[in-house]
Amino acid sequence: MENQVIIVTGGSSGMGLYMAKRFLEEGASVAITGRNKERLQQAKEQIAQGKEDKLLLIEMDVRKVEDADRMVAETVETFGRIDHLVNNAAGNFISPAEKLSPNGWNSVINIVLNGTFYCSQAVGKYWIEQGIKGSILNMVATYAWNAGAGVIHSASAKAGVLAMTRTLAVEWGSQYGIRANAIAPGPIERTGGADKLFESEKAAKRTLQSVPLGRLGTPEEIAGLARFMLSEEASYMNGEVVTLDGGQWLNQFPF
Ligand code: HXC
Repeated sequence: MENQVIIVTGGSSGMGLYMAKRFLEEGASVAITGRNKERLQQAKEQIAQGKEDKLLLIEMDVRKVEDADRMVAETVETFGRIDHLVNNAAGNFISPAEKLSPNGWNSVINIVLNGTFYCSQAVGKYWIEQGIKGSILNMVATYAWNAGAGVIHSASAKAGVLAMTRTLAVEWGSQYGIRANAIAPGPIERTGGADKLFESEKAAKRTLQSVPLGRLGTPEEIAGLARFMLSEEASYMNGEVVTLDGGQWLNQFPF
């Protein structure tokens, strides 16, 4: 990943942080975005390891179009170009569908669906202008095509992001050589998703039982897959979603 420039939204914690760490280790220059300045700074202390000049912190909210434009401008100003965008920023909480307030619905839709589009469009416009064959990697979930009981906002948004991935893979792939792919992670340890969705011991046990491999995934495993999907080795992969969930979503009749 030498000489590659990668933006990771929501890169100050969870999977975003581990992907940024791996990309830095592989020689890339990385811009991580987040809403909280202190958390961005903490992330830098955790992962820079002498590569401070290759790590840019961008304080922003993916829900704001003007922030997405600034994200592109700051990254290009600092590193000279952008090669990849990882739309990792997400928001989620458990709520029965009938109790979810309009504001709660909008909050998750705005972060996950609209935020992914704003960032993709801002970076895509830059690539099209510059003639760069960049690639986009979106983080979805298996409930993008399956059911997400208790997280109707997130499931609806992730389904939209999956449609966006496939649409851009065709629309921008055919005209500009820009690739768009997605990862659908299952339950992954040390992430905001795991913290939120598996709060109680009972829920954690139920989750472990639902995974054929009997364990949570690790953010390092997600980072390894992301590295491959952005690399030259995956240059013919376009419009694909790769599931990394230990077989969880297939486990309809546990054995
Ligand atoms: C019910 C809730 C709620 C909850 C928030 N709301 N949390 N309703 N139960 N637990 C409602 C609020 O009451 C409010 O509606 C509306 O949502 C907006 O709340 P805010 O706190 O003002 O929103 P905001 O500050 O914008 O924060 C967004 C957020 C928050 C999504 C609510 O949790 C967040 O920033 N999360 C980012 C990190 C995160 O969630 N990571 C996990 C991603 S995991 P009212 O009507 O009261 O005004 C993931 C996939 C997991 O995406 C897959 C696992 C397999």
